[in-house]
Amino acid sequence: MKVFATYNIKGGVGKTATAVNLAYLSALGGARTLVWDLDPQGAATFYFRVKAKIKGGSKKLIRGKTGIDPAIRGTDFSGLDLLPADFSYRHMDIHLERAKRPTQQLARLLLPLTLQYDHLFLDCPPSISLVSDGIFVAADILLVPTIPTTLSLRTLRQLHRHLEDRAPTTPKILPFFCMVDRRKKLHRQVTALAEELEVPMLETEIPYSSVVEQMAG
Ligand SMILES: Nc1ncnc2c1ncn2[C@@H]1O[C@H](COP(=O)(O)OP(=O)(O)OP(=O)(O)O)[C@@H](O)[C@H]1O
Ligand SMILES: [Mg+2]
Repeated sequence: MKVFATYNIKGGVGKTATAVNLAYLSALGGARTLVWDLDPQGAATFYFRVKAKIKGGSKKLIRGKTGIDPAIRGTDFSGLDLLPADFSYRHMDIHLERAKRPTQQLARLLLPLTLQYDHLFLDCPPSISLVSDGIFVAADILLVPTIPTTLSLRTLRQLHRHLEDRAPTTPKILPFFCMVDRRKKLHRQVTALAEELEVPMLETEIPYSSVVEQMAG
């Protein structure tokens, strides 16, 4: 099972849009796919029209008392399952902190899923916290949607340095520009810098598109 996390310290940059669309394409291509909505806002859960309630909340799940399997739901798409978010995920840091090895706990919870799924997409909440440290251990690949602004590049550098300190257990960082609007001078200038960056950007850029914006409509 390959674990992809859509992650950025910043909010509102396209993490959820990336996770749900790639998961859909993955399932369409025949891979057994699971999305784990780790964000208490529950946007991915909302997109898949799944009820956002986990029995016993995040506490039992995160502490490994209940197992992940019973919380998994099917979606309207064949081969695509969802582990819905629960509002109690806002306390996930606290529950992780009480585990034996907090940063290893998410990876440990995922172990039983390795034979069931080919691809797992972790839709991460914005911020950098104990939850993200757990994600960095569990994920093989961090997909980092990045809006082309100077501040976004600074945040990307922060992430890169934070992960460098943690080598060799770091996931591969794959940042890409998204919500690109070529009418904006700043977007044109920043995307032109791509080749000079510490962390190379993927070649694919996601344009700003009202079709994506209307996804939930
Ligand atoms: N390529 C795009 N073009 C236009 N709108 C987009 C695009 N990608 C995402 N959006 C819209 O931007 C908003 C934020 O996107 P999304 O929810 O995917 O970001 P996020 O990083 O997951 O946010 P959060 O940090 O709150 O979880 C949403 O309303 C979404 O529909
Ligand atoms: Mg999101």
